[in-house]
Amino acid sequence: MSEPQLVKRLEEAIESIPDFPKDGILFRDITPIFLNPDLYEDIIGEFVNFSRGKIDAVCGIESRGYLFGIAIAVALKVPFVLIRKAGKLPPPFVAESYDLEYGSAEIEMRTGQIKAGQRILIHDDLLATGGTTEAAAKLVEKQGATVSQFSFLIGLKDLQGENRLKDFNAEIFSIIEY
Ligand code: PRP
Ligand code: ADE
Repeated sequence: MSEPQLVKRLEEAIESIPDFPKDGILFRDITPIFLNPDLYEDIIGEFVNFSRGKIDAVCGIESRGYLFGIAIAVALKVPFVLIRKAGKLPPPFVAESYDLEYGSAEIEMRTGQIKAGQRILIHDDLLATGGTTEAAAKLVEKQGATVSQFSFLIGLKDLQGENRLKDFNAEIFSIIEY
C-alpha cells in the first residue's frame, strides 16, 4: 500500500457505482482522476518509485492500462508495449485466451516488441479476478521475457486476483485496495 495521504485523495476521487455494468458489480470509476493533474502526477510518481531500476519495459493492458502505463514508461525511459484485445493488432502477434465470468476472451501482443531476457512490468488500472493479468503474463513468458513486477491502481481484495499471479514470482503492487 501507498502513503496514506495519496490513498485518501484517491478514495475521494474514485466514484463507486452500484450495479454497473451488471447487477451485483460495484464499479470503481477512475475517470475523475484525470480532471486533477496534480493527483495524476502523484500517482505516476508512486508507480515510478515502485519500478525504478527494476524493469526494461512496460506492458500495458487495453484500455485503462494505457492511462498510467505510458506515463510510467516515459518517466523511466523504457519502452511501452501495448497488449490489445483480439482483432486489433496486425500480424505477427502472440495471443492468449482467458476465461471471463461468462465465456472467454483473448488478448494479443505484437511479436518482437519485447525481447527474451527482459524484465517486464505488467501494468493495468485494476486487478479483479486476475484473469486478464494472468493471460498478459503468459504472453510475456511465451516470448522468453520475465515478469518482474505487476502494478495496479486498484486491487479488489475479495476477488483474490493475486492468487492467480503467485506462480510468476513477481512483485505485486496496488496503490489502493478495496
Ligand atoms: C477491466 C480492467 C482490467 C480487467 C480486470 O478491463 O481494466 O483490465 O477488467 O478484470 P480481471 O482481473 O477480472 O481480469 P475491461 O475488460 O473492463 O476493459 P477496459 O480497460 O477497456 O475498460
Ligand atoms: N473491472 C473489473 N471489475 C471492475 C470494477 N468493479 N470496477 C471497475 N472496473 C472493473
